[in-house]
Amino acid sequence: MEKTINNVHNKTLTNKFLNELIEKNFNWAKIGNLPTSIPALAEQDPNLFGVSIHTVEDESFNAGDYDTPFTIQSISKVFALLQALIDNSEEKVFSDIGMEPTGDLFDSISKLESFNNLTPLNPLVNAGAIATTSFIHGKDYDDKFNRLKELMISISNNPTISVDYDVYRSEKETADKNRSIAYFLRNIGAIKGDVDKILELYFKQCSLKVTCKDLSYIGAVLARTSGFNSLSFSGVEIPSRYFRIIKTFMFTCGLYNESGKFAVRVGIPAKSGISGGILAVVPGKMGIGILSPPLNKKSNPLAGMRLLEDLSDRLNLSLIQ
Ligand code: DON
Repeated sequence: MEKTINNVHNKTLTNKFLNELIEKNFNWAKIGNLPTSIPALAEQDPNLFGVSIHTVEDESFNAGDYDTPFTIQSISKVFALLQALIDNSEEKVFSDIGMEPTGDLFDSISKLESFNNLTPLNPLVNAGAIATTSFIHGKDYDDKFNRLKELMISISNNPTISVDYDVYRSEKETADKNRSIAYFLRNIGAIKGDVDKILELYFKQCSLKVTCKDLSYIGAVLARTSGFNSLSFSGVEIPSRYFRIIKTFMFTCGLYNESGKFAVRVGIPAKSGISGGILAVVPGKMGIGILSPPLNKKSNPLAGMRLLEDLSDRLNLSLIQ
């Protein structure tokens, strides 16, 4: 199977091409580090490196450890935002959460107190994501989690997506920073309710297992959402505007305080996770899923970002030309 993408290099997309990109970028992983904030993630194999591409025409290309499950971590924030928008409204969500990029690390607490309006900066940093999760509706916390999981299952077309309870427990036992953020958020009125339950829901959503293949499929779904008024997932009509909103946040905030550099070098909406995953979307063309656990100092997957840079360069994927 091969596909010629209309681009300056006239490069052909094949599994072999993806294998070459893995080989070329493998050494970047050696200068990255596994995360220590969640002890179970420090046990990951640093040599894992996988990539999957799913095109809007439903062709798929894969290389490396593309079928190895890993926890979705911060990539889940994108789906929590979608669910929060469905359950509330754009006005409600963004009266309590900001829309601006960050210059700080993903789990920074510092701006919460200094901002006049006392809202988290955006839905993809931890403070904003915990607030986002608190907006998910359900009759109890199991129901809230199941609704979010069902949405992910529906978008990924993978009914086997489930929680990695070792990673979940590991995060729950060590999450002092997120706990501080969440209690602070309640103190300033940005979240309401049972802080510990909200955090458990957040840790659970972060511990859902996916593969590069799942992420590329999800990315292809997100690549195809324009030109509709709404799209139906897990029995719900979702306004296509909500998909535009989540992709916009991926573009402006998806790589935290490295989002600007990533926009210049790669130029497509993407979201990273601390377990080494990246979900990327080329609107109208394809979804991309990547796994490479070693991270840089900004907690983004080093080799994965380099691979995306090469891919974007060779296939001319940047949205800004
Ligand atoms: O809340 C946390 O710290 C993790 N569960 C997720 C953080 C994360 O994935 C940051 N990404 N690079």
